[in-house]
Amino acid sequence: MNNVSFTVLKRQFDLHQNEYENAAIRALRSGWYVLGKELRTFESSFSEYMGMKFGIGVNSGQDALILAVRALGIGPGDEVIIQANAYIASVLGITENGATPVFVEPDQFYGIDADKIEAAINSRTKAILPVHLYGQMCDMEKISSIARKHNLFVIEDCAQCHGAMLHGKKAGTYSDISCFSFYPTKPLGAMGDAGMLLTNDNSYDEKLRMLRFYGSKVKYVNEITGINTRMDEIQAAILGVGLQYLEEGNQRRTQIAQRYLDEISNSAVILPQVRTGCTHVYHIFAVRARKREMLQRHMEACGVQTQVHYPIPPHLSPCYAELGYKRGDFPITEMYADEEISLPIYVGMTDEEVSMVIEAVNSFEK
Ligand SMILES: Cc1ncc(COP(=O)(O)O)c(C=O)c1O
Repeated sequence: MNNVSFTVLKRQFDLHQNEYENAAIRALRSGWYVLGKELRTFESSFSEYMGMKFGIGVNSGQDALILAVRALGIGPGDEVIIQANAYIASVLGITENGATPVFVEPDQFYGIDADKIEAAINSRTKAILPVHLYGQMCDMEKISSIARKHNLFVIEDCAQCHGAMLHGKKAGTYSDISCFSFYPTKPLGAMGDAGMLLTNDNSYDEKLRMLRFYGSKVKYVNEITGINTRMDEIQAAILGVGLQYLEEGNQRRTQIAQRYLDEISNSAVILPQVRTGCTHVYHIFAVRARKREMLQRHMEACGVQTQVHYPIPPHLSPCYAELGYKRGDFPITEMYADEEISLPIYVGMTDEEVSMVIEAVNSFEK
């Protein structure tokens, strides 16, 4: 029996190999490798696709998050509200600026539970940082109205949901600044590390461009303290190609997800739900099982690789021990961390492989 890998990036590359290679060669032959024409072109094509005014290319989604928090002037003594089941990078975006994350439980769609946000707001709260986990958006309409009411910034973490929508409005368009990762496995992936910030605000755009370039607009004139985080020309050129196939890829994963939703019929497994009005892009197909380790071993025995996103929530991560949380503080988050298991879902996955995954799940005995 052939094995089904969790992901095979090579297949996505093979589908458009010539275009990717031509783009990379064009960048190589240009003789200009950082902050050049390729990045400017991709910044405008990605921001235009998203319907936002400004795109600022950086080195990773992590750097995008760190700079978003910094550009909004959030630092020591300030609090940022974030869901407790966030990926660690989203929380690091806050703590790398010396600010404090305030965790709120997720809802049944794995996004921040908007009904629990107001109870976490106090005079130190500066922003809400919703993480659109697995490819589905948080309840941005409710979150935006809470933010307006309490005069808070909103930073969207869109690392897993390029092209996802809520009532026809794209992820990344609901906030002051939104952050994207182009890590190779993402719905739009580079062939290395890359990330981007989007904003409609001219002053944030200007500040973010300075922050990614040592704090300068003009080389060697350092107006603020920044860092070096620039998307390189080769990644920008490659991403320009990938952007043309983003929707096609989102559609293929949605097709696979629909088969999983229709054909997985094992009461030991909880399937993902779609929020009303949401267009899910299924970056990750997250199911849950009480006996997660047993299911994972069973899948492995059936030749199907799975992963867990994520086994240790930030509040229980050793790096945040100083925040003083303990097991039991966020029971929904902890249950998700104990039960979540991600099934293979990627561009280039064959229908036979999808069938193998379905058969493997359905043959798991409680
Ligand atoms: C939700 C989320 N936020 C942030 C990041 C960080 O992105 P990057 O890996 O590009 O630093 C990732 C990706 O790993 C992610 O999944």
